[in-house]
Amino acid sequence: MPHQPFAQTDPATVFRLFDQTARTYDLLNDLLSLGLHRLWKRQAVALLQPRPGARIVDLCCGTADLALLLAERVRPHGCVIGVDGSAASLEQARQRAAERPWLHLEFIRADVLALPLPPGAADGVMMAYGLRNLASIAAGLRVIRYLLKPHGRAVVLDFNRPSRPLWAQAQRSYLQQVVVPVARMMDLEAEYTYLERSIATFATGAQQEALARQAGFAVARHHPIAGSLMGLLELGLAGGRS
Ligand SMILES: C[S@@+](CC[C@H](N)C(=O)[O-])C[C@H]1O[C@@H](n2cnc3c(N)ncnc32)[C@H](O)[C@@H]1O
Repeated sequence: MPHQPFAQTDPATVFRLFDQTARTYDLLNDLLSLGLHRLWKRQAVALLQPRPGARIVDLCCGTADLALLLAERVRPHGCVIGVDGSAASLEQARQRAAERPWLHLEFIRADVLALPLPPGAADGVMMAYGLRNLASIAAGLRVIRYLLKPHGRAVVLDFNRPSRPLWAQAQRSYLQQVVVPVARMMDLEAEYTYLERSIATFATGAQQEALARQAGFAVARHHPIAGSLMGLLELGLAGGRS
């Protein structure tokens, strides 16, 4: 049997999990990161450098945090397409988008690995806290490659697996002693217990770079951020700008 280094996740289970957390997801994100996730998302957008007029696909868009940031950057003529498999998350996303009718946003409910979009549909692709949840990281990277125009760029934001034992221990303690107890108070303990396992089995930055090169990216650089607790994977086909 071929070696399977990373966890395989059934998409229906993942969508159910995010359906259950959709209504409290943004509040929990703010609480658990002390609002820092907003900074990390802005760093991801800065690295992508979306231009006004660009068409950006936000994969695993959830409640549209990043899709909204991106739509501000590509206005007035650009647009953002958010893709997610969780109906409840997309409901939140659509409500938030409706409060900003001047932005061009559309949302598609789909599995990222079975995307109803044509090749070369995007000048830029963003994926935040999604790659780790996919049934196959390699397949997820191939989807990003498929979506990009020849000079397109992509950025993937996710947890990083710190190489230093002290940081790795700090991350584990944070998950076990902060995230799970807070989630328990909100009746979401089971949902957030899953987080630790998904991070522990996630590809390291170097592994992500190697998988991205195998998927056909000329540019594949992983940048640890937030004291190496998070990571930004920068991807490009020809060093272009989205
Ligand atoms: C942790 S949330 C991140 C949401 C958003 N990107 C953010 O950073 O706030 C992960 C999202 O990925 C979605 N997701 C996971 N696997 C997916 C898949 N195979 N296809 C589509 N969406 C998926 C989940 O439904 C969930 O909304």
